[in-house]
Amino acid sequence: MEQYAVFGHPIQHSRSPFIHQQFARQTGQAVSYRAILAPLEGFADAVAQFHQQGGKGANVTMPFKEEAYRLCHHLTDRARRAGAVNTLWWDNNGALWGDTTDGAGLVADLLAAGVVLQHRRILVLGAGGAVRGVLQPLLDKQPTELVLANRTAEKARLLAADFADLGKVQGGGFADIDGSFDLVINGTPASMGGSLPDLSRVTLAPGAACYDMAYGAGQTLFQQWAEREGAKINLAGLGMLVRQAAESFNQWRRVAPDANPVLQALKAELE
Ligand code: ATR
Repeated sequence: MEQYAVFGHPIQHSRSPFIHQQFARQTGQAVSYRAILAPLEGFADAVAQFHQQGGKGANVTMPFKEEAYRLCHHLTDRARRAGAVNTLWWDNNGALWGDTTDGAGLVADLLAAGVVLQHRRILVLGAGGAVRGVLQPLLDKQPTELVLANRTAEKARLLAADFADLGKVQGGGFADIDGSFDLVINGTPASMGGSLPDLSRVTLAPGAACYDMAYGAGQTLFQQWAEREGAKINLAGLGMLVRQAAESFNQWRRVAPDANPVLQALKAELE
């Protein structure tokens, strides 16, 4: 059995062991996968120990994604852009590699739902680490324009400037939002915290899709807003979770698992 794990703090509610065990079964891969609670001040040691004990690769979740990025000897292009990694593995020389599969997971989930990104206008709410992690894969799909709106407008402007070489992307505050959008993505955790940002300036284009990167039992606040606004497609982040895991699994094992049955199983559990 080759060993994999997810590191986080807290970690007990992580769905990753279930997801990866399903992928292993489905693809006939002899891998084990467990959750490891790393101490807040002991992430690097925990990862090193895992490797010494035979670990082949790992996922990283909150709050260690940036620290994991700094630990890597080699990074994929998208991880370098994201400034964070959620997927680690060691090569034959023992060098540590880092990738981020969150954005690919989001794009895969959007495409699976039939959402078109090319030549569309996209609004992303938020400008934190979670948003930074998905910008390159979104821009790779060549939207007409990607607008970042954030409570702290300056943060969105700076983030937009970091990605300006990849396409038309601009940042500002919620009060700067203008025009209508084919896709609105919520990348703030506000929806879970009980209040939404001021979305009064957001207009959905006919047939628009909305996506909350967060998820929970039932609709998130952002999804409730999207429904009131008449979004044609209205999704939350469970699919992104399963599909980023599929991307990680593929990165490690060079086998693409089918995310759909695992997503169905998790959805049934949440209902
Ligand atoms: P993460 O890594 O999860 O993205 P983060 O880097 O702390 O976390 O970023 C959180 C994002 O959600 C930020 O864009 C934050 O806005 P600010 O940059 O103005 O702080 C946004 N956010 C958090 N709570 C919010 C709220 N209640 N309303 C609006 N935006 C919120």
